[in-house]
Formats: sequence, structure tokens, C-alpha cells
Amino acid sequence: MTKCNGKTALVTGASRGIGRAAALALAKAGAQVLVHYSSGKQEAEVVVENIRLAGGRAEAVGADLSLPDGPHKLAARVREIVGDRLDILVANAGISRAAPIEETTVEDFDRLFAVNVRAPFFLVQQLLPILHEGSSIVLVSSLAARASVGTIYAYAATKGAIDTLVTHFAAALGPRGIRVNAVAPGVVQTDMSNFTKTDAGRDFALGMQSLKRLAVPEDIGDVIAFLASDQARWITGDIIHADGGSKL
Ligand SMILES: NC(=O)c1ccc[n+]([C@@H]2O[C@H](COP(=O)([O-])OP(=O)(O)OC[C@H]3O[C@@H](n4cnc5c(N)ncnc54)[C@H](OP(=O)(O)O)[C@@H]3O)[C@@H](O)[C@H]2O)c1
Repeated sequence: MTKCNGKTALVTGASRGIGRAAALALAKAGAQVLVHYSSGKQEAEVVVENIRLAGGRAEAVGADLSLPDGPHKLAARVREIVGDRLDILVANAGISRAAPIEETTVEDFDRLFAVNVRAPFFLVQQLLPILHEGSSIVLVSSLAARASVGTIYAYAATKGAIDTLVTHFAAALGPRGIRVNAVAPGVVQTDMSNFTKTDAGRDFALGMQSLKRLAVPEDIGDVIAFLASDQARWITGDIIHADGGSKL
């Protein structure tokens, strides 16, 4: 069983979906979890309540990560709560938008990169002073970074950028004892992939996949908790494909 006893963790986008599952998995493993949200304050507070009811420690922290100073404000708030030591950073918050190449706007492209790439980059930068020997950073990539899966070109490019950051951050931070990895989910049943609620969408998702069932957020949350834990202490610079064998 994954163990994170005594560790402090920040999970961005933990009000719902994969982030919520990661926050719950980390709390179950014994970590104190800062549950980040943007618009979903109430949902985040329910996650905090669930963790506390199970005997864990958690607090909700809000920040809009589409804003240039969003990561800076979030990092400052995190430091107010945990002080000078953060063990786990899960940069999960993300947005997606499907559009043909011809219909992708500059505004959509910039927003995708702001939330999915700029925010994780500057969150790592701003939290570096309190990350330390043994800390673990988990970024969230996607199957879309390595395979063509629908009309999500700009989104896919943001996840390609995440994979690149994993390599470079892991190389830069390894000498300080900080591990950096990503989990790359395939289609997971969340608000982001609500196309799976239709028969056509479900068939599309299952059609490219070996294990032939739709993933639930917990399938990814558990992998994130493992990567964050000391049980993954020899894994860095890696991208774990948690996708039920998609596009093999
Ligand atoms: N679902 C999939 O099939 C799938 C597949 C591969 C990769 N992923 C990746 O997994 C991660 C989580 O996705 P999900 O499916 O769980 O998505 P989701 O259910 O739509 O949840 C997205 C989360 O990101 C937060 N968020 C959105 N915009 C934000 C902003 N401007 N500032 C701060 N936080 C913001 C949301 O917070 P609020 O609700 O509080 O605003 C929410 O907690 C993303 O990086 C996504 O790209 C998902």
C-alpha cells in the first residue's frame, strides 16, 4: 500500500476529476493535503471535509491559474500554510478544448498554454524554495502527447510541453534529491471527457484501448499517489502511461 505518512502535499485542480482522486489517495496514504480549486470552492470544501471525516488533514486553497500571477499567489498561500517544507506537488489542473486546426483561435491557444503549461512551470519555480531532498513533483500529461486522438491539437501540444518539462526539470532538480515525473492518462471519465457519456464517445474511447473499460479518476489518482510516495524513490524523469493500453 502507498505510504505518505507525515508528508505535505499540494494538488492543483483537486475540486473534481483526477485531482480530487489524487487528493483523496494521498490523504488515505497519510499525507496532509492542500486541495486547490479555481471556480469549485464548494466542491473543494467537500473534498476537505471527506478527508477530515476519515481522520486526515486537509485545507482548501483557491487560485485562478490562468492568470499570470496565479501560480505566485497560490505558492504564497501554500507557504503560509505549510511553512518551509512541501513534500509533494501534483500539478494536475488543466483545461481542454476540441477544435479543428482551422477553428482554433489565438485566445483558446493562449489559455490552454497558460493553464496547462505556464502555471505548472511557475508553480514549480515558486515552490522550489520549500521543496527539498525527497520531494516529488508529479505533472499530468496525456495520451494525446504521443498519439493522435481527435481534434485536440493545441491541447495535445500543451501535454507535449509537459513531457519536455519532465525531462528537463528531472535533470535540473535530481542533484537536489527532487524527483519529477508525469502520469499520462488515456480517456478518463471526468467533466473534461464528457463525450464518454454518449454511445459514440464510449465506443471511440474503448476502440483505441486494450483493457476495454472506461477509466475512472481513481485509476489515475492511485498512480499519482504512488509516484509521489517514497516507494517510487528511484523513478524520475519518467512518464507513466496509465491508459489501459491505449493506442498500442
Ligand atoms: N479526463 C481525461 O480523459 C484526461 C486524459 C488525459 C489527461 N487529463 C489531464 O488530467 C488533468 C485533470 O483533468 P480532469 O479530467 O480531472 O479535468 P476536470 O474534471 O475538468 O477538472 C479540471 C480541474 O482543473 C481545475 N482548473 C480548470 N481551470 C483552472 C484554472 N483556470 N485555474 C485553476 N484550476 C483550474 C478545475 O478547478 P475548478 O473546477 O475549481 O475550477 C478542476 O479541478 C488535466 O491536466 C487533464 O489535461 C485528463
